[in-house]
Amino acid sequence: PVVGVDQRHDSAALHVAGKARYIDDEPEWPGLLHLAFGVSTEASATIEGIDLSAVRAAPGVVAVFTAADIPGANDVSPFAGDDRLLADGEVLWLGQPVFLVAATSRRAARQAARLGAITYGSRPPILTIAQARAAQSLIEPTQRMARGDAHQALGQAPHRLSGQLAMGGQDHFYLEGQIALARPMEDGQIHLLSSTQHPSEVQHLVAHLLGRSSADVTVEVRRMGGAFGGKETQGSLYAAAAALVAHHTGRPAKFRADRDDDMVQTGKRHDFEVDYDVGFDDAGHILGLQVRLASRCGATVDLSPAINDRAMFHVDNTYFLPAVEIVSERLKTNMVSATAFRGFGGPQGMLAIERVMDAVAGYLGCDPLAVRVANLYGPGRDVTPYGMKVLDNIAPELIAKLREDGRYAARQQDVAAFNAGSPVLKKGLALTPVKFGISFTTTHLNQAGALLHVYADGSIQINHGGTEMGQGLHTKVAQVVAQAFGVGLGTVRITATRTDKVPNTSATAASSGADMNGMAAYNAALAIRERLVEFCVRTYGCGAEEVVFEAGTVTAGAEVMTWETLCRRAYLARVSLSSTGFYATPGIEYDRAAHQGTPFYYFAYGAALAEVVIDTLTGEYRVLAADILHDCGNSLNPAIDKGQIEGAFVQGQGWLTSEELVWDAKGQLLTHAPSTYKIPTANDRPDHLSVTLWDGPNLKPTIHRSKAVGEPPFMLANAVLSALGAAVAACNPAAGWPELDAPATPERMLAAIARQKAGA
Ligand code: MTE
Ligand code: MOS
Repeated sequence: PVVGVDQRHDSAALHVAGKARYIDDEPEWPGLLHLAFGVSTEASATIEGIDLSAVRAAPGVVAVFTAADIPGANDVSPFAGDDRLLADGEVLWLGQPVFLVAATSRRAARQAARLGAITYGSRPPILTIAQARAAQSLIEPTQRMARGDAHQALGQAPHRLSGQLAMGGQDHFYLEGQIALARPMEDGQIHLLSSTQHPSEVQHLVAHLLGRSSADVTVEVRRMGGAFGGKETQGSLYAAAAALVAHHTGRPAKFRADRDDDMVQTGKRHDFEVDYDVGFDDAGHILGLQVRLASRCGATVDLSPAINDRAMFHVDNTYFLPAVEIVSERLKTNMVSATAFRGFGGPQGMLAIERVMDAVAGYLGCDPLAVRVANLYGPGRDVTPYGMKVLDNIAPELIAKLREDGRYAARQQDVAAFNAGSPVLKKGLALTPVKFGISFTTTHLNQAGALLHVYADGSIQINHGGTEMGQGLHTKVAQVVAQAFGVGLGTVRITATRTDKVPNTSATAASSGADMNGMAAYNAALAIRERLVEFCVRTYGCGAEEVVFEAGTVTAGAEVMTWETLCRRAYLARVSLSSTGFYATPGIEYDRAAHQGTPFYYFAYGAALAEVVIDTLTGEYRVLAADILHDCGNSLNPAIDKGQIEGAFVQGQGWLTSEELVWDAKGQLLTHAPSTYKIPTANDRPDHLSVTLWDGPNLKPTIHRSKAVGEPPFMLANAVLSALGAAVAACNPAAGWPELDAPATPERMLAAIARQKAGA
């Protein structure tokens, strides 16, 4: 079989040899213009005047554009219509593009962009959650999801505990920064290479921006050098800029954002502040829970409604919450708009309940895992706060297996013994589960298309609406197609994603790329296979069930031929060997007004067991070990899935430990380069990192019963923050669970250790 076995990423050899072509590797056309934005130096202001004479006079500058030069809609937003390509009359955040410079070199464009003289009528910016709350500055009304009477349950519970948890945002830090290359075609049409997860959206936005139709714009994506949600909407800004310049000048235009500019100009993960109030019994069963989630959404709507919804959807994680109220405040601040990032709000919601579990255990003085297990979904307690029945709950068995295989009990004893004899270094161990909902919660986005060509020589080209960002989507889809025809993977070519091949696609996001595009490709393959079967029945007089495609050979009753021979014969017999395929995820619906329904097709599960050691004198720490058990259903490609799990875990570890975004009181992002913004390095990877795949099919008929893997394992890293909390708690167990915010930098750790020792 081709599916279900380790297969190399189709570009692995090219990646490691540095030969995989990214947009900036494309040969530069004659006359190519390079672009840079002139940006706002105020976080909230009206624009009183713009003097661009020095910009225009700067060496190498060919053209300078402002909002007035946009022929159509000045909008690069996914749906709300509030993201400007170039500021028009006012600026809403510091670093917002105000004008666009096109020059003969990138350096010339960037230098000239600093020469703009913009005068502002400044307003006091709203930057913090407290400021936004006080001003009731919201991107949409506060949302509420509830079941039962949480307030009453809290009042009646034997124990009650409240607390806070703040968690920071996160920069995507894709290796390939934002980039787009636009080429004017004849008759005003535009061809765009864009590093985007969402070619169709870029196509539609560029068309509206230029006052053209979608049919005039073609967007092509061969691959991205990482995206992580940061190119779900944020690529549009650069693509639109390049298209605008190509449109006006008739010359090709490339916008490759400098790393620092990219970090300032594009959105990040939402930071959250959480308040909780929990009521529970002696065994740690949660009886009532009130949670308030407040997030900084930045200056515009972007995807914040759906992201904050997903945070609410994941406050339950794997736990049954009998009486619960989740309130979600979506605060509008004068900062770059926060956007999608792996997990899409899920990590923030899930971290909240994991902290509640730890705090309850700390209060009762019992093992946090015992509290977690006591609260798991189970028979008769299997409905989520949004009214969806959990039908595929494998969390109890999965946790039990990891607990056993990871030697949880023995290691807890070892850790306790170590801590008893170690006054300075303290260890912590934690096992946390993950349950992540798979589907776009906006129902109509759950559709995908594919275009499949079988050539007369038997070679195959597959195109689909998904984009490749390193996650191995193209490899998985090619596997599905190869298996459908019983040929080797080498027979199938995947080409660039193009809006002129597959139209009206959704973003490659919500981890659903392989689920949806794999199924669309499979449906296309089935259509062609049926035609080939019919041809065999007609030609060789066999029954349809006697036609077998296997190992590059096709058997049709008594006739045995190679796959290539069949294709040649079918072509000569004038059989169509090309087909589209389509897929729409069944059975999902959601009433957003009531926050009730079945927003997900299924859940993906996992659990991680993390062990850390901290230095109580410096606050520094290491993640010593992580054992992971993760559910990919029947994995399409275990090697790629393990890579996704390792990468997601370490990326989650970075979010919770070292990656810190700092804005100053003016609204300026201070951490806009790797010198000040610390992603995990190879050295931060746990010394021991083991990943095992859970063995069991998806209950839902997904493609080969596999499960989505892109985002869920990110949240396995919650075990690291819990383990750090356990190590801090070990400094003075009587003080309960520490209030430790994320990222748990050494500075925060040191402060938490001091508070713990002081008993507060
Ligand atoms: N893996 C790599 N190597 N690079 C990426 O940018 N993005 C993640 C995840 N894994 C990403 C990645 C995110 S945010 C999502 S939603 C999924 O991949 C998208 O791809 P999929 O739907 O095909 O899993
Ligand atoms: Mo992923 S955050 O859904 O692009």
